[in-house]
Formats: sequence, C-alpha cells, structure tokens
Amino acid sequence: MKEKIDKLEKLREEAELGGGVDKIQAQHKKGKLTARERIEMLVDEGSFQEIDMFVKHRCNSFGLEKQRIIGDGVVTGFAKIEGRQIALFSQDFTVFGGSLSETHAEKICKVMDMAMKIGVPIIGLNDSGGARIQEGVISLGGYAEIFLRNTLASGVVPQISAVLGPCAGGAVYSPAITDFIFMVKNTSHMFVTGPNVVKTVTHEEVTFEDLGGAETHASKSGVAHFVFDSEIETLESIRKLLSFLPLNWKDLPPEKEFDFSRDLTNIKLDEIIPDNPNKPYDMKEIILLLLDNGDFLEVHSNYAQNIIVGFGRVSGVTVGVIANQPAVLAGVLDINSSVKGARFIRFCDAFNIPLLVLEDVPGFLPGTEQEWNGIIRHGSKLLFAFCEATVPKVTVITRKAYGGAYDVMNSKHIRGDFNFAWPSAEIAVMGPKGAVEIIFKKEISSSKNPEEKLEEKLSEYIERFANPYVAAERGFIDEVIIPRETRTKIVQAFQLLKTKVDSNPKKKHCNIPL
Ligand code: HXC
Repeated sequence: MKEKIDKLEKLREEAELGGGVDKIQAQHKKGKLTARERIEMLVDEGSFQEIDMFVKHRCNSFGLEKQRIIGDGVVTGFAKIEGRQIALFSQDFTVFGGSLSETHAEKICKVMDMAMKIGVPIIGLNDSGGARIQEGVISLGGYAEIFLRNTLASGVVPQISAVLGPCAGGAVYSPAITDFIFMVKNTSHMFVTGPNVVKTVTHEEVTFEDLGGAETHASKSGVAHFVFDSEIETLESIRKLLSFLPLNWKDLPPEKEFDFSRDLTNIKLDEIIPDNPNKPYDMKEIILLLLDNGDFLEVHSNYAQNIIVGFGRVSGVTVGVIANQPAVLAGVLDINSSVKGARFIRFCDAFNIPLLVLEDVPGFLPGTEQEWNGIIRHGSKLLFAFCEATVPKVTVITRKAYGGAYDVMNSKHIRGDFNFAWPSAEIAVMGPKGAVEIIFKKEISSSKNPEEKLEEKLSEYIERFANPYVAAERGFIDEVIIPRETRTKIVQAFQLLKTKVDSNPKKKHCNIPL
C-alpha cells in the first residue's frame, strides 16, 4: 500500500507543478500568478476540492503525443468563499499556454454541470491562448460545449469571469455570456481579432493594451465590469461581489445583521440638492448616505457614468442601486447608460435582488448620433428591464423626472412598489423652458415684450408642474418625503416588501429588444 500511496502523492506533486518550474517562473515574471496560486488567494483556506487532476489530452498530432501533461492546462473543482459553496475553473497558462483542448473543455463542462445541479455560482479564471491549435475543430467543439453551458446557466446560478491573461478570438464569448467580467491592467487582454489582424484588415496600428486591455474594456466597450491594478485586488473583489449574491435563482441574497433601534435620520441629505435646478451634484454622495455603512460596490464604474449601478445593503438586505448621475451629462439617458442599466437590472431580477432607484433625469439624449445608433432600440431595453422585474422596487425622485425617462425609471405605472419624491422633485412632460416655448409660442411671439412674457409663463409653469405634488395627487408618488427621512423610508419599504410576490405571464421566453 505504501508504494501505491507514494505513487499517488508523486502524481499529485507532478500535477501541482503544471508546465514545470521554468514555466511557473515565466508566469511570475509577467506579473501573473499561477492557476493554483489564484485559487488559493480566491477561496477559503483549505476548502478547495479538486477534481479531474489526472486528466490528459488525447491528441496524437504535431508531437503532442509526447507531451501529455497531467491536468491538461486547467484546474477545476469546488470550494468555499466566506463559508459558501462555489464551483470554479482556473486555466493554467504554464501548460500549452492554457490553450483549450477537448479534455480541457470536458473538465470545465463537468464542474459547470455539477454547479447547475447543486445550484452554486461558477467562477472562471481565464488565462488562455485560445483553441489548442493542434486539435483543430475538436477544440472548437469544446468551446461550443462551454458556450452552451454558459447560456443554460444564465439566470440559474451567478457566473463570474476573471480574465487574467490572453482571451482572444471566439474564446471571448464565454466570459461575455457570464454575468460579470473582471480584468487586470496590463496583463489581461480580450479581443476578437488581435493587433496584427487589425493592421492587415483596417490598416490601424494599435497596441494590445489599447485594443483590448482592461482600461479599454472598462471605459470604452463596457465589456469589463471591474478593473484592478493587480490580480490580488481582483480576486479579493470577486469575494466581495459574492458576499452580495445568492447562490442560485431560488436562493435569497445573504442578509447581514442590522440594528433597527438606530436613528436613521440624516440631516446631510437635506443639503445636497443645489438651489439652482440646473446645477449638477454628485448622486454618489446620496447613495453612500443611504446604504448601510456607506458600503457600495459599484459595477461598471468607468463606463457610461451618467448612470450609476452597483450593490449595497439597506437594513442588511442586498439591494441593486440604479441611479442617474446629474454630475455627468446632467444624468441624461443615452444608449450606453440604458444598456448598462438594463443588464444590471436583469441580473438583479434574475437573482432576487431588490432594486433601489434614485432618479434625477432630464430625459433621453437628443442628436443624430444617438438616433442613428438606435437610442429607440437601446433605450427600450432599460424600460423593458424595469417593466419585467418582479423583485421589490423602490424609487426616490430627488429632482428631475421628465418625459419618457419618468416612465422608464421605475415609475409606479411599471410596477414600482414604493415611489418617493423629495420636495425638490420636478415631474412633468418636459423642462419648463422647452415646454413654455412650445405651448405659449404664439402668445410669446405676439406679445409686445416677448422676454417678459416668457418669464411670466415660465414661473406659471414652474409653479404648476415643476414639483412633485401633481404626481402625488394622482398617487403616482406614494409619499413626498423630506430628504433626511429617506433612509428610514427605504428601510421600512424594503422590510415590508420582503414577502412580496409578483410574476409575469407564462411564456417560452420574452423578446427583449436586442
Ligand atoms: C496550442 C499554444 C496556443 C494555442 C499558446 N500556446 N497558444 N499551444 N494552442 N492556441 C503555447 C505556445 O506554443 C507556447 O508553448 C506556450 O503556449 C506559451 O506561449 P507563448 O507564445 O510562448 O507565450 P506568450 O509570448 O506569452 O504569448 C501568448 C499568446 C501567444 C499571445 C497567447 O501564445 C499566441 O498568440 N497564441 C496563439 C493565440 C491564438 O491565435 N489562438 C487561437 C485563437 S482562435 P511552448 O511549448 O513553446 O512553451 C480561438 C478560436 C476559439 O481561440 C473559437 C471559439 C469559438
């Protein structure tokens, strides 16, 4: 027996070395951790249960038959994060550049299948040269098997991808289907075609980092939801994200203890809205004052900053915050912010995370650029996502709620559960100046003093419409509240809504305008 045990231990040691000491050193030289070091950083100490450690590839071409490295370039298994179960795979760049073979794909599919059956999140740590070139179409088949599982798992269990090295060609579509993508500055790259192909086809000269680096995807394309300077920060942040999420679609997000005897009034909230309604302010200040311990995990923080989305807690309960940001483009809704908001809302709704909406929106962004690129199509995604969501939904209108944007931003009409407005709220079809210039056009132009007439009509309109009371008279606003009372009100609302049940008509699936 001893001999047999020794043999097994030797095999384990061999597997743990992956592509060998030299390759591990090369990985470290690039500022990257190995597949196993990453797992160690990510999960609770001693919790990792590895499977398929001894799997080898089956390729007999191009000399690969002489190099059958055990594990085949990916480490897979199950572990715990803050005591909660997860499934994971971690690609090992030291073995054939982490490239994906038939068996490498089978290992990933196996943990994904089990994660779906037992209802736990799947975390993928990607670091791969793409399809194993020597295996040709067999490798492409392996990718397709993973894409299918990513799609079927969508909305069943949270799927999180960290891209910690190259991720190129069709391989990008696995992380792209998952719920969140994390990237690291300078070492992560994602692109469908690399700089050389780009140069041949479009004659553009572009570096790896500019084309598909972390900052590009965090600010320009919106592909990356989170970006960090180091792998360690990235892995820590995945742990933090998970702390807000349920394990699967039937589960509820973990709840933290909350001291209900504490005074929730906060006078600072009374001082944030400027007297001049056209002056910007930072909505993040309000978000931080409303969430427990000012703890906010912002998603997509560098992309479409005119809308803010992220996770926090209200009275210990996870909420997804969706807020217009008046400090960027006056908080207007455009194509990118609509898509960003919609995707976030749909994630929250799929995983039983209540929505807190903070609204200060002058409307949709006008212009040919927006119209020709489909603001109608993309804006409707945000509307659709809010309409479709059946989780608890609470809105606070801090200032502007104009036009279609009023309807879109979780209004009462589309199943907002509690809709509050501050006294500074302006809820109307459009802003005073635009409205007056249309409805009093003749009166103003035929007046002896058009400027004076315009002013007179403006104050009439502001008095009549630029307030929350017309909406409150109709019950479109449940309560006009003093800003300092907001945290108390939303705590009460989310507590009350804990037992909310709502549903949508039965169907095969919806047809969200893509
Ligand atoms: C087999 C691969 C490989 C691959 C890298 N290697 N990519 N082996 N298939 N796709 C091997 C290398 O031969 C090398 O082996 C080792 O991994 C490390 O690679 P290096 O090139 O030395 O590393 P580095 O300089 O860091 O460059 C990394 C890289 C580069 C940028 C990823 O290797 C590269 O460009 N690889 C090819 C990428 C690619 O075109 N993949 C196919 C994309 S299309 P040795 O033994 O020398 O150490 C695709 C389709 C998916 O993936 C479609 C899904 C639908």
